[in-house]
Amino acid sequence: STTRHYKFDVKLQNVTRLCHTKSMVTVNGKFPGPKIVAREGDRVLIKVVNHVPNNISIHWHGIRQLQSAWADGPAYITQCPIQTGQSYVYNFTIVGQRGTLLWHAHISWLRATLYGPIIILPKRGVPYPFPKPHKEVPILFGEWFNADPEAVIAQALQTGAGPNVSDAYTINGMPGPLYNCSKDTFKLKVKPGKTYLLRLINAALNDELFFSIANHSLTIVDVDAIYVKPFTTDVLLITPGQTTNVLLTTKPSIPNATFLMSARPYATGLGTFDNTTTAGILEYHLPNTTTSSSSSTLLLKPTLPALNDTAFAANFSSRLRSLASVQFPANVPQNVNKKFYFTVGLGTSPCPKNQTCQGPNGTKFAASVNNVSFVLPTTAVLQAYFFKQSKGVYTTDFPDNPRFPFNYTGTPPNNTFVDNSTKVEVLPFNTQVELVLQDTSIQGAESHPLHLHGFNFFVVGQGFGNYNPAKDPAKFNLVDPVERNTVGVPAGGWVAIRFKADNPGVWFMHCHLEVHTSWGLKMAWIVLDGKLPNQKLPPPPLDLPKC
Ligand code: C2O
Repeated sequence: STTRHYKFDVKLQNVTRLCHTKSMVTVNGKFPGPKIVAREGDRVLIKVVNHVPNNISIHWHGIRQLQSAWADGPAYITQCPIQTGQSYVYNFTIVGQRGTLLWHAHISWLRATLYGPIIILPKRGVPYPFPKPHKEVPILFGEWFNADPEAVIAQALQTGAGPNVSDAYTINGMPGPLYNCSKDTFKLKVKPGKTYLLRLINAALNDELFFSIANHSLTIVDVDAIYVKPFTTDVLLITPGQTTNVLLTTKPSIPNATFLMSARPYATGLGTFDNTTTAGILEYHLPNTTTSSSSSTLLLKPTLPALNDTAFAANFSSRLRSLASVQFPANVPQNVNKKFYFTVGLGTSPCPKNQTCQGPNGTKFAASVNNVSFVLPTTAVLQAYFFKQSKGVYTTDFPDNPRFPFNYTGTPPNNTFVDNSTKVEVLPFNTQVELVLQDTSIQGAESHPLHLHGFNFFVVGQGFGNYNPAKDPAKFNLVDPVERNTVGVPAGGWVAIRFKADNPGVWFMHCHLEVHTSWGLKMAWIVLDGKLPNQKLPPPPLDLPKC
Protein backbone atom coordinates (compact mmCIF):
# COMPACT_ATOMS: atom_id res chain seq x y z
CA SER A 1 0.00 0.00 0.00
CA THR A 2 1.05 3.55 -0.63
CA THR A 3 0.24 7.06 0.49
CA ARG A 4 -1.59 9.27 -2.00
CA HIS A 5 -1.43 13.03 -1.75
CA TYR A 6 -4.04 15.41 -3.09
CA LYS A 7 -4.46 19.15 -2.87
CA PHE A 8 -7.95 20.65 -3.04
CA ASP A 9 -7.89 24.39 -3.61
CA VAL A 10 -11.43 25.53 -2.95
CA LYS A 11 -11.96 28.56 -5.17
CA LEU A 12 -14.52 30.47 -7.17
CA GLN A 13 -14.88 29.71 -10.86
CA ASN A 14 -17.24 30.99 -13.55
CA VAL A 15 -19.31 28.16 -15.00
CA THR A 16 -21.99 28.41 -17.71
CA ARG A 17 -24.92 26.02 -18.09
CA LEU A 18 -28.36 26.58 -19.66
CA CYS A 19 -27.12 29.99 -20.89
CA HIS A 20 -26.55 31.17 -17.29
CA THR A 21 -23.09 32.02 -16.10
CA LYS A 22 -22.38 32.11 -12.40
CA SER A 23 -19.40 32.29 -10.15
CA MET A 24 -19.47 29.18 -8.03
CA VAL A 25 -17.48 27.34 -5.40
CA THR A 26 -15.30 24.60 -6.93
CA VAL A 27 -12.33 22.44 -6.10
CA ASN A 28 -9.36 23.38 -8.29
CA GLY A 29 -11.72 25.23 -10.67
CA LYS A 30 -13.29 21.96 -11.81
CA PHE A 31 -16.96 21.02 -12.03
CA PRO A 32 -17.58 18.24 -11.10
CA GLY A 33 -14.51 18.18 -8.90
CA PRO A 34 -11.33 16.13 -9.27
CA LYS A 35 -11.22 12.40 -8.92
CA ILE A 36 -9.51 10.64 -6.03
CA VAL A 37 -8.00 7.32 -7.01
CA ALA A 38 -6.55 4.89 -4.48
CA ARG A 39 -6.21 1.20 -3.85
CA GLU A 40 -7.75 -0.67 -0.98
CA GLY A 41 -5.28 -0.39 1.91
CA ASP A 42 -3.80 2.96 0.80
CA ARG A 43 -3.50 5.99 3.01
CA VAL A 44 -4.94 9.16 1.49
CA LEU A 45 -3.93 12.68 2.48
CA ILE A 46 -5.96 15.55 1.07
CA LYS A 47 -4.98 19.09 1.89
CA VAL A 48 -8.05 21.31 1.57
CA VAL A 49 -7.30 25.03 1.30
CA ASN A 50 -10.19 27.47 1.53
CA HIS A 51 -9.89 30.47 -0.83
CA VAL A 52 -13.60 31.37 -0.83
CA PRO A 53 -15.72 33.54 1.49
CA ASN A 54 -17.82 30.53 2.64
CA ASN A 55 -16.89 28.17 5.45
CA ILE A 56 -15.95 24.79 3.97
CA SER A 57 -15.89 21.18 5.05
CA ILE A 58 -15.46 18.06 2.90
CA HIS A 59 -16.85 14.59 3.60
CA TRP A 60 -15.47 11.35 2.10
CA HIS A 61 -18.84 9.73 1.77
CA GLY A 62 -18.80 6.01 2.56
CA ILE A 63 -15.16 5.82 3.68
CA ARG A 64 -15.24 3.88 6.93
CA GLN A 65 -12.77 6.20 8.72
CA LEU A 66 -11.66 3.45 11.09
CA GLN A 67 -9.86 5.22 13.95
CA SER A 68 -9.93 8.43 11.92
CA ALA A 69 -13.21 10.09 12.87
CA TRP A 70 -11.45 13.48 12.74
CA ALA A 71 -11.21 13.12 8.96
CA ASP A 72 -14.90 12.38 8.34
CA GLY A 73 -15.88 15.96 7.58
CA PRO A 74 -19.51 16.85 8.45
CA ALA A 75 -19.43 20.42 9.75
CA TYR A 76 -20.19 20.78 13.48
CA ILE A 77 -20.30 17.00 13.90
CA THR A 78 -16.66 15.90 13.51
CA GLN A 79 -15.02 19.24 12.89
CA CYS A 80 -15.51 22.97 12.82
CA PRO A 81 -15.52 24.29 9.26
CA ILE A 82 -12.36 25.40 7.47
CA GLN A 83 -12.58 29.17 7.45
CA THR A 84 -11.49 31.49 4.65
CA GLY A 85 -7.71 31.41 4.27
CA GLN A 86 -7.35 28.28 6.41
CA SER A 87 -6.53 24.71 5.51
CA TYR A 88 -6.94 21.21 6.91
CA VAL A 89 -5.38 17.89 5.93
CA TYR A 90 -7.83 14.98 5.82
CA ASN A 91 -5.90 11.83 6.60
CA PHE A 92 -7.40 8.35 6.37
CA THR A 93 -6.72 4.78 5.32
CA ILE A 94 -9.05 2.79 3.10
CA VAL A 95 -9.86 -0.54 4.75
CA GLY A 96 -11.96 -3.37 3.30
CA GLN A 97 -13.62 -1.37 0.54
CA ARG A 98 -13.29 -1.44 -3.23
CA GLY A 99 -15.51 0.22 -5.79
CA THR A 100 -16.81 3.75 -6.07
CA LEU A 101 -17.64 6.36 -3.45
CA LEU A 102 -17.92 10.13 -3.60
CA TRP A 103 -16.60 13.14 -1.78
CA HIS A 104 -18.71 16.24 -1.26
CA ALA A 105 -18.93 19.42 0.76
CA HIS A 106 -20.72 18.78 4.05
CA ILE A 107 -21.92 22.19 5.08
CA SER A 108 -25.13 23.95 4.10
CA TRP A 109 -25.89 23.29 0.39
CA LEU A 110 -22.36 23.64 -0.94
CA ARG A 111 -22.41 20.07 -2.17
CA ALA A 112 -24.50 21.35 -5.09
CA THR A 113 -21.21 22.34 -6.73
CA LEU A 114 -18.55 20.65 -4.60
CA TYR A 115 -18.48 16.94 -5.31
CA GLY A 116 -16.38 14.36 -7.11
CA PRO A 117 -15.65 10.64 -7.40
CA ILE A 118 -13.57 8.43 -5.13
CA ILE A 119 -12.34 5.40 -7.02
CA ILE A 120 -11.06 2.53 -4.93
CA LEU A 121 -9.21 -0.12 -6.90
CA PRO A 122 -8.62 -3.58 -5.46
CA LYS A 123 -5.22 -4.31 -3.92
CA ARG A 124 -2.49 -4.78 -6.53
CA GLY A 125 -2.76 -8.23 -8.11
CA VAL A 126 -6.28 -8.88 -6.82
CA PRO A 127 -8.73 -9.17 -9.74
CA TYR A 128 -12.33 -8.02 -9.81
CA PRO A 129 -14.85 -10.83 -9.22
CA PHE A 130 -16.14 -10.11 -12.76
CA PRO A 131 -14.51 -9.91 -16.20
CA LYS A 132 -11.90 -7.18 -16.48
CA PRO A 133 -13.49 -4.18 -18.19
CA HIS A 134 -11.97 -2.61 -21.29
CA LYS A 135 -12.40 0.82 -19.71
CA GLU A 136 -13.77 2.42 -16.55
CA VAL A 137 -15.86 5.58 -16.66
CA PRO A 138 -17.17 7.63 -13.71
CA ILE A 139 -20.69 8.96 -14.27
CA LEU A 140 -21.83 11.53 -11.72
CA PHE A 141 -25.40 12.72 -11.49
CA GLY A 142 -25.92 16.19 -10.10
CA GLU A 143 -28.24 19.15 -10.12
CA TRP A 144 -27.70 22.55 -11.69
CA PHE A 145 -29.28 25.67 -10.20
CA ASN A 146 -29.19 28.87 -12.23
CA ALA A 147 -29.40 30.63 -8.87
CA ASP A 148 -26.91 30.28 -6.04
CA PRO A 149 -27.99 27.15 -4.10
CA GLU A 150 -26.95 28.86 -0.85
CA ALA A 151 -29.52 31.58 -1.55
CA VAL A 152 -32.15 28.94 -2.41
CA ILE A 153 -31.89 27.17 0.95
CA ALA A 154 -31.49 30.41 2.92
CA GLN A 155 -34.77 31.65 1.45
CA ALA A 156 -36.56 28.36 2.13
CA LEU A 157 -35.48 28.34 5.76
CA GLN A 158 -36.56 31.93 6.16
CA THR A 159 -40.04 31.44 4.71
CA GLY A 160 -40.63 27.95 6.11
CA ALA A 161 -41.68 26.79 2.61
CA GLY A 162 -40.11 24.23 0.30
CA PRO A 163 -37.04 25.43 -1.61
CA ASN A 164 -37.04 26.27 -5.30
CA VAL A 165 -36.15 23.23 -7.34
CA SER A 166 -33.06 22.96 -9.52
CA ASP A 167 -33.14 23.94 -13.20
CA ALA A 168 -31.64 20.71 -14.50
CA TYR A 169 -30.17 17.38 -13.60
CA THR A 170 -26.72 16.75 -14.94
CA ILE A 171 -24.50 13.89 -16.06
CA ASN A 172 -20.87 14.72 -15.27
CA GLY A 173 -21.94 18.34 -14.81
CA MET A 174 -23.75 18.54 -18.17
CA PRO A 175 -27.55 18.87 -18.50
CA GLY A 176 -27.71 17.31 -21.97
CA PRO A 177 -29.84 17.91 -25.06
CA LEU A 178 -33.34 17.76 -23.54
CA TYR A 179 -33.12 21.17 -21.87
CA ASN A 180 -33.64 24.57 -23.44
CA CYS A 181 -30.46 26.41 -24.20
CA SER A 182 -28.26 23.51 -23.16
CA LYS A 183 -24.94 23.33 -24.94
CA ASP A 184 -23.29 20.71 -22.78
CA THR A 185 -23.84 17.00 -23.27
CA PHE A 186 -21.82 14.13 -21.86
CA LYS A 187 -20.70 11.72 -24.58
CA LEU A 188 -19.52 8.22 -23.78
CA LYS A 189 -17.46 7.01 -26.74
CA VAL A 190 -17.37 3.24 -26.95
CA LYS A 191 -16.05 0.54 -29.25
CA PRO A 192 -18.21 -2.39 -30.33
CA GLY A 193 -17.96 -5.73 -28.52
CA LYS A 194 -16.33 -4.46 -25.33
CA THR A 195 -17.27 -4.32 -21.67
CA TYR A 196 -17.19 -1.01 -19.80
CA LEU A 197 -17.37 -0.45 -16.07
CA LEU A 198 -19.56 2.57 -15.37
CA ARG A 199 -19.06 4.01 -11.91
CA LEU A 200 -22.37 5.71 -11.20
CA ILE A 201 -22.61 8.27 -8.41
CA ASN A 202 -25.71 10.16 -7.36
CA ALA A 203 -24.47 13.50 -6.09
CA ALA A 204 -27.80 15.28 -6.72
CA LEU A 205 -29.01 17.34 -3.78
CA ASN A 206 -32.63 16.35 -3.53
CA ASP A 207 -33.66 13.56 -5.88
CA GLU A 208 -33.46 9.83 -6.25
CA LEU A 209 -32.92 9.01 -9.91
CA PHE A 210 -33.83 6.30 -12.37
CA PHE A 211 -31.13 5.66 -14.96
CA SER A 212 -31.14 3.72 -18.20
CA ILE A 213 -29.34 3.49 -21.54
CA ALA A 214 -31.49 2.90 -24.63
CA ASN A 215 -31.27 -0.65 -26.04
CA HIS A 216 -28.55 -1.72 -23.59
CA SER A 217 -28.79 -3.60 -20.36
CA LEU A 218 -26.68 -3.00 -17.30
CA THR A 219 -25.16 -5.59 -14.99
CA ILE A 220 -24.89 -4.39 -11.41
CA VAL A 221 -21.72 -5.63 -9.71
CA ASP A 222 -21.03 -3.32 -6.78
CA VAL A 223 -22.94 -0.82 -4.66
CA ASP A 224 -21.45 1.62 -2.14
CA ALA A 225 -17.99 0.05 -2.66
CA ILE A 226 -19.12 -3.49 -1.79
CA TYR A 227 -19.47 -6.24 -4.41
CA VAL A 228 -22.94 -7.66 -4.98
CA LYS A 229 -24.22 -10.78 -6.74
CA PRO A 230 -24.33 -9.56 -10.33
CA PHE A 231 -27.73 -9.09 -11.93
CA THR A 232 -28.88 -7.51 -15.13
CA THR A 233 -31.48 -4.80 -15.50
CA ASP A 234 -32.60 -2.21 -18.05
CA VAL A 235 -33.20 0.48 -15.44
CA LEU A 236 -31.64 1.17 -12.08
CA LEU A 237 -32.50 3.41 -9.16
CA ILE A 238 -29.85 5.38 -7.31
CA THR A 239 -30.47 7.68 -4.34
CA PRO A 240 -28.36 10.68 -3.42
CA GLY A 241 -25.29 9.33 -1.63
CA GLN A 242 -25.43 5.95 -3.31
CA THR A 243 -22.92 4.62 -5.82
CA THR A 244 -23.44 1.73 -8.23
CA ASN A 245 -20.90 0.02 -10.46
CA VAL A 246 -22.39 -1.51 -13.60
CA LEU A 247 -20.99 -3.41 -16.54
CA LEU A 248 -22.12 -2.26 -19.95
CA THR A 249 -21.41 -4.61 -22.82
CA THR A 250 -21.53 -2.91 -26.19
CA LYS A 251 -23.08 -4.40 -29.31
CA PRO A 252 -20.82 -6.68 -31.39
CA SER A 253 -20.79 -4.41 -34.43
CA ILE A 254 -21.25 -0.73 -34.90
CA PRO A 255 -24.98 -0.02 -34.82
CA ASN A 256 -26.80 2.32 -37.11
CA ALA A 257 -27.85 4.64 -34.33
CA THR A 258 -26.71 6.46 -31.25
CA PHE A 259 -28.25 5.88 -27.86
CA LEU A 260 -29.33 8.24 -25.15
CA MET A 261 -28.57 7.47 -21.53
CA SER A 262 -30.88 9.34 -19.26
CA ALA A 263 -31.85 9.96 -15.67
CA ARG A 264 -34.87 11.53 -14.05
CA PRO A 265 -36.34 11.43 -10.57
CA TYR A 266 -38.19 8.88 -8.57
CA ALA A 267 -40.35 11.10 -6.38
CA THR A 268 -43.64 10.34 -4.74
CA GLY A 269 -44.05 13.49 -2.67
CA LEU A 270 -46.85 15.94 -3.23
CA GLY A 271 -44.48 18.88 -3.22
CA THR A 272 -42.93 20.49 -6.21
CA PHE A 273 -39.87 18.86 -7.65
CA ASP A 274 -37.89 19.01 -10.81
CA ASN A 275 -39.31 16.30 -13.06
CA THR A 276 -37.06 16.95 -16.05
CA THR A 277 -34.65 14.50 -17.65
CA THR A 278 -30.92 14.72 -18.08
CA ALA A 279 -29.35 12.84 -20.95
CA GLY A 280 -25.96 11.87 -22.31
CA ILE A 281 -25.04 10.09 -25.51
CA LEU A 282 -23.56 6.65 -26.01
CA GLU A 283 -21.62 6.91 -29.22
CA TYR A 284 -20.02 3.96 -31.03
CA HIS A 285 -16.66 4.31 -32.74
CA LEU A 286 -14.91 1.80 -34.93
CA PRO A 287 -11.65 0.62 -33.43
CA ASN A 288 -8.72 2.85 -34.49
CA THR A 289 -10.88 5.39 -36.32
CA THR A 290 -12.77 8.47 -35.41
CA THR A 291 -15.77 7.42 -37.49
CA SER A 292 -18.70 7.47 -35.17
CA SER A 293 -22.24 6.24 -35.19
CA SER A 294 -23.49 9.77 -34.67
CA SER A 295 -23.31 10.34 -38.41
CA SER A 296 -26.28 8.03 -38.55
CA THR A 297 -29.19 10.13 -37.42
CA LEU A 298 -31.38 7.81 -35.39
CA LEU A 299 -31.23 8.66 -31.71
CA LEU A 300 -32.84 6.09 -29.44
CA LYS A 301 -34.23 7.05 -26.04
CA PRO A 302 -34.55 4.73 -23.06
CA THR A 303 -37.85 4.18 -21.29
CA LEU A 304 -37.80 5.18 -17.64
CA PRO A 305 -40.36 4.21 -14.98
CA ALA A 306 -43.06 6.68 -13.97
CA LEU A 307 -42.07 9.33 -11.50
CA ASN A 308 -43.89 7.61 -8.63
CA ASP A 309 -43.10 3.98 -9.47
CA THR A 310 -42.66 2.70 -5.92
CA ALA A 311 -43.20 -0.89 -7.02
CA PHE A 312 -40.13 -0.62 -9.25
CA ALA A 313 -38.13 0.92 -6.41
CA ALA A 314 -39.07 -1.83 -3.94
CA ASN A 315 -38.43 -4.60 -6.42
CA PHE A 316 -35.10 -3.15 -7.50
CA SER A 317 -33.77 -2.78 -3.96
CA SER A 318 -34.87 -6.31 -3.05
CA ARG A 319 -32.70 -7.70 -5.84
CA LEU A 320 -29.49 -6.35 -4.33
CA ARG A 321 -27.57 -9.07 -2.47
CA SER A 322 -24.08 -9.25 -1.05
CA LEU A 323 -21.66 -11.50 -2.85
CA ALA A 324 -21.28 -13.41 0.46
CA SER A 325 -18.44 -15.53 -0.95
CA VAL A 326 -15.46 -17.06 0.81
CA GLN A 327 -13.26 -14.22 -0.40
CA PHE A 328 -15.86 -11.52 0.22
CA PRO A 329 -17.98 -12.73 3.15
CA ALA A 330 -21.02 -10.91 4.48
CA ASN A 331 -20.35 -10.47 8.20
CA VAL A 332 -23.97 -9.89 9.14
CA PRO A 333 -24.49 -9.52 12.90
CA GLN A 334 -26.47 -12.68 13.71
CA ASN A 335 -27.38 -11.59 17.22
CA VAL A 336 -28.07 -8.06 18.33
CA ASN A 337 -27.44 -6.36 21.70
CA LYS A 338 -29.50 -3.31 21.05
CA LYS A 339 -32.62 -2.62 18.98
CA PHE A 340 -33.83 0.78 17.95
CA TYR A 341 -36.99 1.88 16.20
CA PHE A 342 -36.68 5.29 14.55
CA THR A 343 -39.37 7.16 12.69
CA VAL A 344 -38.07 9.35 9.92
CA GLY A 345 -40.13 11.83 8.09
CA LEU A 346 -41.37 15.16 7.12
CA GLY A 347 -43.95 17.20 8.85
CA THR A 348 -44.64 20.74 9.77
CA SER A 349 -44.14 22.64 12.95
CA PRO A 350 -45.96 25.70 14.26
CA CYS A 351 -44.79 29.03 12.90
CA PRO A 352 -42.74 31.00 15.45
CA LYS A 353 -44.67 34.03 16.75
CA ASN A 354 -42.46 36.68 15.20
CA GLN A 355 -42.51 35.09 11.72
CA THR A 356 -44.91 34.53 8.84
CA CYS A 357 -44.52 31.04 7.44
CA GLN A 358 -45.34 29.94 3.92
CA GLY A 359 -45.49 26.19 4.57
CA PRO A 360 -48.81 24.23 4.52
CA ASN A 361 -51.57 26.18 6.36
CA GLY A 362 -49.16 28.84 7.58
CA THR A 363 -46.83 26.36 9.29
CA LYS A 364 -43.19 25.72 8.50
CA PHE A 365 -41.68 22.50 7.23
CA ALA A 366 -39.74 20.42 9.71
CA ALA A 367 -38.23 16.97 9.53
CA SER A 368 -37.22 14.70 12.35
CA VAL A 369 -35.98 11.34 13.62
CA ASN A 370 -38.12 10.07 16.52
CA ASN A 371 -39.68 13.52 16.70
CA VAL A 372 -36.34 15.18 17.30
CA SER A 373 -35.43 17.81 14.75
CA PHE A 374 -31.65 17.91 15.13
CA VAL A 375 -30.00 21.28 15.56
CA LEU A 376 -26.32 21.59 14.61
CA PRO A 377 -24.33 23.00 17.52
CA THR A 378 -21.85 25.85 17.13
CA THR A 379 -18.88 23.68 17.97
CA ALA A 380 -18.16 20.14 16.75
CA VAL A 381 -19.79 17.29 18.70
CA LEU A 382 -16.66 15.13 18.31
CA GLN A 383 -14.45 17.80 19.88
CA ALA A 384 -16.89 18.36 22.73
CA TYR A 385 -17.03 14.60 23.31
CA PHE A 386 -13.27 14.06 23.17
CA PHE A 387 -12.51 16.97 25.51
CA LYS A 388 -15.46 16.10 27.78
CA GLN A 389 -17.14 19.46 27.23
CA SER A 390 -20.60 18.36 26.19
CA LYS A 391 -22.37 21.00 28.27
CA GLY A 392 -24.27 23.36 25.99
CA VAL A 393 -23.26 21.33 22.92
CA TYR A 394 -25.26 18.09 23.05
CA THR A 395 -27.21 15.79 25.37
CA THR A 396 -27.22 11.99 25.36
CA ASP A 397 -30.96 11.44 25.70
CA PHE A 398 -31.88 10.62 22.13
CA PRO A 399 -35.09 8.54 22.31
CA ASP A 400 -34.70 4.83 21.38
CA ASN A 401 -38.31 4.76 20.21
CA PRO A 402 -40.73 7.34 18.84
CA ARG A 403 -42.44 9.33 21.56
CA PHE A 404 -45.69 9.73 19.64
CA PRO A 405 -46.25 6.49 17.75
CA PHE A 406 -49.27 6.35 15.48
CA ASN A 407 -50.60 4.24 12.67
CA TYR A 408 -48.16 4.93 9.86
CA THR A 409 -50.57 3.67 7.21
CA GLY A 410 -53.01 6.48 7.92
CA THR A 411 -53.02 10.17 7.20
CA PRO A 412 -49.99 11.81 8.70
CA PRO A 413 -50.69 14.33 11.45
CA ASN A 414 -50.30 18.00 10.79
CA ASN A 415 -47.11 18.24 12.69
CA THR A 416 -44.46 15.87 13.90
CA PHE A 417 -44.41 17.24 17.47
CA VAL A 418 -40.83 18.10 16.90
CA ASP A 419 -38.40 18.98 19.58
CA ASN A 420 -35.57 21.14 18.21
CA SER A 421 -32.46 19.95 20.02
CA THR A 422 -29.05 18.29 19.75
CA LYS A 423 -29.53 14.80 21.13
CA VAL A 424 -27.17 11.90 20.47
CA GLU A 425 -27.39 8.16 21.03
CA VAL A 426 -24.45 6.54 22.84
CA LEU A 427 -23.27 3.04 21.91
CA PRO A 428 -20.70 0.99 23.81
CA PHE A 429 -17.88 -0.27 21.57
CA ASN A 430 -18.83 -3.33 19.48
CA THR A 431 -22.57 -3.08 20.16
CA GLN A 432 -24.41 -5.10 17.53
CA VAL A 433 -27.16 -2.75 16.50
CA GLU A 434 -30.47 -3.41 14.82
CA LEU A 435 -32.22 -0.29 13.65
CA VAL A 436 -35.67 -0.21 12.08
CA LEU A 437 -36.40 2.96 10.17
CA GLN A 438 -40.07 3.70 9.66
CA ASP A 439 -41.11 6.28 7.09
CA THR A 440 -43.86 8.30 8.74
CA SER A 441 -45.09 10.49 5.93
CA ILE A 442 -47.53 8.18 4.26
CA GLN A 443 -49.84 9.99 1.90
CA GLY A 444 -47.68 12.06 -0.32
CA ALA A 445 -44.88 10.05 1.20
CA GLU A 446 -41.39 10.26 -0.04
CA SER A 447 -38.72 7.67 0.41
CA HIS A 448 -35.81 8.92 2.52
CA PRO A 449 -32.26 7.89 1.58
CA LEU A 450 -30.79 7.45 5.05
CA HIS A 451 -27.01 7.66 5.22
CA LEU A 452 -24.90 6.48 8.14
CA HIS A 453 -21.37 7.85 8.53
CA GLY A 454 -18.51 5.64 9.72
CA PHE A 455 -20.13 2.27 8.97
CA ASN A 456 -21.57 0.02 6.36
CA PHE A 457 -24.76 -1.70 7.42
CA PHE A 458 -26.65 -4.72 6.19
CA VAL A 459 -30.17 -4.20 4.90
CA VAL A 460 -31.81 -7.23 6.51
CA GLY A 461 -35.45 -6.45 5.77
CA GLN A 462 -37.89 -4.02 4.25
CA GLY A 463 -41.64 -3.74 3.84
CA PHE A 464 -44.64 -1.51 3.40
CA GLY A 465 -46.99 -0.27 6.12
CA ASN A 466 -46.15 -0.49 9.80
CA TYR A 467 -43.18 -2.54 10.93
CA ASN A 468 -44.42 -5.49 12.98
CA PRO A 469 -41.81 -6.58 15.58
CA ALA A 470 -43.73 -9.83 16.20
CA LYS A 471 -43.78 -11.00 12.60
CA ASP A 472 -41.30 -9.19 10.38
CA PRO A 473 -37.98 -10.33 11.94
CA ALA A 474 -38.76 -13.93 10.92
CA LYS A 475 -38.34 -12.81 7.31
CA PHE A 476 -35.00 -11.05 7.79
CA ASN A 477 -32.20 -12.06 5.46
CA LEU A 478 -29.15 -12.76 7.63
CA VAL A 479 -27.30 -14.65 4.90
CA ASP A 480 -26.60 -12.34 1.97
CA PRO A 481 -28.24 -8.96 2.61
CA VAL A 482 -26.80 -6.03 0.71
CA GLU A 483 -24.13 -4.10 2.61
CA ARG A 484 -24.10 -0.34 2.07
CA ASN A 485 -23.96 3.12 3.62
CA THR A 486 -27.15 4.71 2.24
CA VAL A 487 -30.56 3.05 2.03
CA GLY A 488 -33.90 4.31 0.77
CA VAL A 489 -36.45 4.05 3.59
CA PRO A 490 -39.43 3.15 1.40
CA ALA A 491 -42.25 5.64 0.97
CA GLY A 492 -44.99 4.32 3.25
CA GLY A 493 -42.84 1.55 4.66
CA TRP A 494 -39.82 0.54 6.73
CA VAL A 495 -36.36 -0.87 6.40
CA ALA A 496 -34.32 -2.84 8.98
CA ILE A 497 -30.54 -2.55 9.11
CA ARG A 498 -27.83 -4.10 11.24
CA PHE A 499 -24.31 -2.95 11.98
CA LYS A 500 -21.55 -3.49 14.50
CA ALA A 501 -20.45 -0.34 16.31
CA ASP A 502 -16.73 -1.09 15.95
CA ASN A 503 -15.58 2.42 15.08
CA PRO A 504 -15.05 4.88 17.95
CA GLY A 505 -16.14 8.46 17.33
CA VAL A 506 -19.16 10.56 16.53
CA TRP A 507 -21.13 9.46 13.51
CA PHE A 508 -23.75 11.46 11.71
CA MET A 509 -26.86 9.82 10.30
CA HIS A 510 -29.22 11.76 8.07
CA CYS A 511 -31.46 11.82 5.06
CA HIS A 512 -29.31 12.44 1.99
CA LEU A 513 -31.99 14.63 0.44
CA GLU A 514 -30.26 17.85 1.41
CA VAL A 515 -33.45 19.78 2.05
CA HIS A 516 -34.54 17.19 4.62
CA THR A 517 -31.18 17.46 6.36
CA SER A 518 -31.66 21.22 6.46
CA TRP A 519 -35.08 20.68 8.06
CA GLY A 520 -33.63 18.44 10.79
CA LEU A 521 -33.85 14.84 9.53
CA LYS A 522 -30.52 14.03 11.12
CA MET A 523 -28.99 12.70 14.35
CA ALA A 524 -25.65 11.43 15.62
CA TRP A 525 -24.27 8.35 17.36
CA ILE A 526 -21.37 8.38 19.78
CA VAL A 527 -19.46 5.10 19.70
CA LEU A 528 -17.37 4.75 22.85
CA ASP A 529 -13.79 3.50 22.93
CA GLY A 530 -13.04 -0.19 23.34
CA LYS A 531 -10.39 -1.52 25.71
CA LEU A 532 -7.57 -2.24 23.27
CA PRO A 533 -5.32 0.54 21.97
CA ASN A 534 -6.56 0.04 18.42
CA GLN A 535 -10.14 0.45 19.58
CA LYS A 536 -9.71 4.01 20.77
CA LEU A 537 -10.37 7.35 19.14
CA PRO A 538 -6.96 8.99 18.64
CA PRO A 539 -6.45 12.63 19.68
CA PRO A 540 -7.32 15.30 17.09
CA PRO A 541 -4.74 16.35 14.48
CA LEU A 542 -2.99 19.62 15.29
CA ASP A 543 -4.47 21.45 12.30
CA LEU A 544 -8.08 20.56 13.17
CA PRO A 545 -10.05 23.76 12.45
CA LYS A 546 -11.35 25.79 15.40
CA CYS A 547 -14.81 27.31 15.58
CU1 C2O B 1 -22.87 12.15 1.84
CU2 C2O B 1 -23.44 13.13 5.68
O1 C2O B 1 -23.18 12.71 3.74
